[in-house]
Amino acid sequence: MNTMEAIRTRRSVRTFDGRALREEDARRILDFARMAENPYELPVTWMLLDAKKDVPGAPVITGTDAYLAGKMRRADHAEEAFGYTFEKIVLFAQTIGVGTTWIAGTMNRAAFERAAGLSAGEVMPCVSPLGYAAKKMSLRETMMRKGVRADSRMDFQTLFFLGDFDTPLMPEAAGQCREPLEAVRLSPSAVNKQPWRAVLRDGAVHFYEKKNKSSASADAWDVQKIDMGIALCHFELGAESVGLPFSFRIADPGIPAPENTFYIASYELA
Ligand SMILES: Cc1cc2nc3c(=O)[nH]c(=O)nc-3n(C[C@H](O)[C@H](O)[C@H](O)COP(=O)(O)O)c2cc1C
Repeated sequence: MNTMEAIRTRRSVRTFDGRALREEDARRILDFARMAENPYELPVTWMLLDAKKDVPGAPVITGTDAYLAGKMRRADHAEEAFGYTFEKIVLFAQTIGVGTTWIAGTMNRAAFERAAGLSAGEVMPCVSPLGYAAKKMSLRETMMRKGVRADSRMDFQTLFFLGDFDTPLMPEAAGQCREPLEAVRLSPSAVNKQPWRAVLRDGAVHFYEKKNKSSASADAWDVQKIDMGIALCHFELGAESVGLPFSFRIADPGIPAPENTFYIASYELA
């Protein structure tokens, strides 16, 4: 399975089939994680935790005891860097047949942080179970997916714009950016809020976060910035899949943005 197939086929897996994570798969995922980089060049430390001895399993997860956790120093852009890197690992897991679910909320956070040996100044934003999807989802998982409409995503032209935020970008007009932006559109996000917006202008794609009203300050710790890191990861992987060269930079182009919409980062296309 290639990366775009992984992006198109991945879904959160909350009902696993009870088989233990194979040693070989655990090793490949940890090896991949330890090599994974992010455009912010912030390091993340990865580990596997066992819900039989290290932590209580996350309550929404059944049928596996293996968890991936990552911790890092608190820093500017830590959320985006974490989101980017974790998603790379999630997609790698998908390519080798291992199911995942991003978990930021539905876990005993204190127990996970203790087991991860979190020290002052460090954060452990999310964890994920690792295992093999059961053939049938539990009723609880089915209900959870319905609750957040997990199978649906916003339209391309609702998320992406040409030149300014008043001009929706139709998929047919996106040229070489169509596939990378489609990859962004399919990203997972906390409570499926899909906060990513992007403006294609003058050979660059500028990414913005449309914040929930409830967390609409520009600088507090923000789970939706993790979603933004996921979107950046998907954009890069989509661009690589169509051979589109890009370079990452943080330079606000000053495009007037709607309320609660904040600049995150850009890709120059060349
Ligand atoms: C940053 C982040 C945090 C999440 N936290 C949780 C969580 O605490 N519990 C949970 O069951 N799902 C969690 N999810 C999974 C989302 O609900 C899920 O990705 C979204 O509904 C889309 O569904 P899909 O992943 O199946 O495409 C989280 C996802 C992200 C990206």
